[in-house]
Amino acid sequence: MPEPSITTTHDAEADPRNADLKIYVNGRIVPRAEAMVSVYDSGFLLGDGVWEGIRLYNGKWAFLDAHLDRLYEAAKAIDLDIGLDRAGLMAALDATAAANGMREDVHARLMVTRGVKDKPFQDPRLSRSGPTIVIITEHSAPSEATVHRGIRLATVPHLRGLPMTQDPKLNSHSKLNCILAGIAAQKAGADEALMLDMHGFVNTTNSCNFFIVRRGEVWTSTGDYCMPGITRANVIRLCRDNAIPCFEKNFSLVETYGAEEAFITGTFGAQTPVAEIDGRPISDGPGPVTLRIRALYKALVKAETA
Ligand SMILES: Cc1ncc(COP(=O)(O)O)c(C=O)c1O
Repeated sequence: MPEPSITTTHDAEADPRNADLKIYVNGRIVPRAEAMVSVYDSGFLLGDGVWEGIRLYNGKWAFLDAHLDRLYEAAKAIDLDIGLDRAGLMAALDATAAANGMREDVHARLMVTRGVKDKPFQDPRLSRSGPTIVIITEHSAPSEATVHRGIRLATVPHLRGLPMTQDPKLNSHSKLNCILAGIAAQKAGADEALMLDMHGFVNTTNSCNFFIVRRGEVWTSTGDYCMPGITRANVIRLCRDNAIPCFEKNFSLVETYGAEEAFITGTFGAQTPVAEIDGRPISDGPGPVTLRIRALYKALVKAETA
């Protein structure tokens, strides 16, 4: 029996070159099959690390300063010394792309964990050998079919956490709350989870930020309890610069089901249309406001990476 086809928010066009990638592991760039980290690594044992997803266009990393700001801020918050300065990390990213002959439609996952532990226990003081830094770069053109079709969302019981538990603004390796949300959505027949905050307002999805369009206005959550997405910030700025009314505000599922359009944002897919939420149809393919924002964002990326 063929595998059933699935839609994920990170569907990329198939690219056989990804079978032979070269991957950066702690200063060495090695073939994919040899790219390994220890079973004692803090990231493997405990999800103790932080990461960024960054894209390369025209040989340049888009919005790199913002990504590095977020990474160093997260590392400081979890008291993790990355051990490389910004120039060092940029050189590592460039070397990995160069080793793979990459310039366009590339997605990098830059990961920094607390490194190899002496013993398989939680105490961060057991991580004594310095951080583990891994960069995976893949040939990764977002699937046109997914953009055309849109994704299906389902609301789930898993809430966005409060900042004093595991701050949902941290791009941490441990993403179990988001993973459980995604599993619940998939069991409900959707592709991605729509997550609420503890007041019941619509907040974000498990791996992307969330926007709706109502009567020509673009709405997204206040920004509390969601990842401070770099694509989200760019979309808000583009709307404001181009006279598209845009509001960061609380809104409910009623207002969400009644939206004319909805889309999610993230570095990988830019803006991906939402076709359906909890079985309610939203729009058949990308709507006019989503298309306009996609075009503005494409132009922004082009200018940024010229
Ligand atoms: C939970 C979550 N929301 C949103 C995003 C999108 O952020 P960005 O636009 O910076 O890629 C990410 C990406 O890491 C994420 O993990």
